[in-house]
Amino acid sequence: MRKTIIAGNWKMYKTINEAIELTNGLKREFDCLETLGLEVVLCPPYTALSDVSELIMDTDIQLGAQDIYWQDEGAFTGEVSGKMLKDAGCKFVIIGHSERRQFFGETNETVNKKIPAALRNGLTPIVCIGENLSEREKGATFKVLTDHIENGLKGLSTEDVQKIIIAYEPVWAIGTGKTATPAQAQEAHKFIRDLLKKLYTDVIAQNIRIQYGGSVKPENAFELIKQPDIDGALVGGASLSVESFSRIAKSASEVKK
Ligand code: PGA
Repeated sequence: MRKTIIAGNWKMYKTINEAIELTNGLKREFDCLETLGLEVVLCPPYTALSDVSELIMDTDIQLGAQDIYWQDEGAFTGEVSGKMLKDAGCKFVIIGHSERRQFFGETNETVNKKIPAALRNGLTPIVCIGENLSEREKGATFKVLTDHIENGLKGLSTEDVQKIIIAYEPVWAIGTGKTATPAQAQEAHKFIRDLLKKLYTDVIAQNIRIQYGGSVKPENAFELIKQPDIDGALVGGASLSVESFSRIAKSASEVKK
């Protein structure tokens, strides 16, 4: 059974005080996560990691970062390592988000170096993949997903591959209000799972969690997460308010598969 996982990617939003306020609000909503049968992860900006970590210490809410560098330490101005993220209380880290690919030169090769850095520091990588609008319109979606998976995960042992989470995020649906339909999302998730089966084993493919991301809202979360191969959501905009993020989590908890 794959446990549903809802992660909030706060992107470059929230000062420390704002992050504390949001976290306190979420704590009140999520005091019974075990009963909801969900994993909930908050991914604040680096500057708020330690404060959020302290606030959620006595809860089941978990902490994630939005990026990682592939070296554990060194003269790499501006970068943050897995060792430091672990130290700040993180258990998860987003890798290869499309905004990092689009604006900061992230590639499958850098993704491929960051995954082992996360794993050797005991962090669960949430590896983002997905096609942009022109790729979808050209009918190249599956080709892009294959490229992101084959090259992003290249060289990972079967043991390590089981420790990752994949987030399918069609770039055209991120922050645009245009969500993939549940059928479009399910089709892509099934393709990814079938590909993992081909590359690894059926058992591995059945165990890896694949989240959907891209304009997930309280109004569409239930139908998306109800799809058989969708194991949760990576939420951007709607994770910035207590009301919308907790409603998404509650909808997710109502899905019975
Ligand atoms: P969105 O972002 O929910 O605002 O579309 C999702 C993401 O970028 O992870």
